[in-house]
Amino acid sequence: MQLHSLSYMSSAVHLPTRDEIDRLLESSRRFNAQHLVTGVLFYSDGGFHQYLEGPLEGIERVYARVLASRMHHNIFELMREPIDVREFSDWSMGYRAVGVGPNDPVLDRMLGHEADGTSPGRMLLSAYWDKVVGHRVAVAAGRSGDGAR
Ligand SMILES: Cc1cc2nc3c(=O)[nH]c(=O)nc-3n(C[C@H](O)[C@H](O)[C@H](O)COP(=O)(O)O)c2cc1C
Repeated sequence: MQLHSLSYMSSAVHLPTRDEIDRLLESSRRFNAQHLVTGVLFYSDGGFHQYLEGPLEGIERVYARVLASRMHHNIFELMREPIDVREFSDWSMGYRAVGVGPNDPVLDRMLGHEADGTSPGRMLLSAYWDKVVGHRVAVAAGRSGDGAR
């Protein structure tokens, strides 16, 4: 079975509560599992970045739900391509919000610190994480977004 991947980023329409995120994850995990889709979702201060992988039909069904969701807008597709292997075979939807400290084992797995090789999907996840974490640290340190971490 040929596998496909899809990655996008988007903006929340309003800052979601923990309850709203929990409901989103519960509904997503159920639907994704039914359609053999796995992946991860990052969230930070109103921004989402999601990586999905699975059979084309499953990806299309899940992405249709993503596009139809009223929780976010400005959905910007970053990547859509065939893949040979899954990166997250045991996660119907892994989740991390920016704010976890360093040495978080789930985050390490998401960013591929334990994986061999670097797929385009992993590179996007790492780039997004570096960007939002870099931005947060720069703001906290009172700098003006010079990209320092
Ligand atoms: C950032 C984001 C990621 C989502 N990811 C998935 C997903 O992986 N699988 C899925 O079935 N639905 C996904 N959805 C759709 C949610 O299941 C849906 O938004 C939620 O059930 C609430 O529905 P509503 O936005 O129409 O009120 C996602 C929605 C958002 C905003």
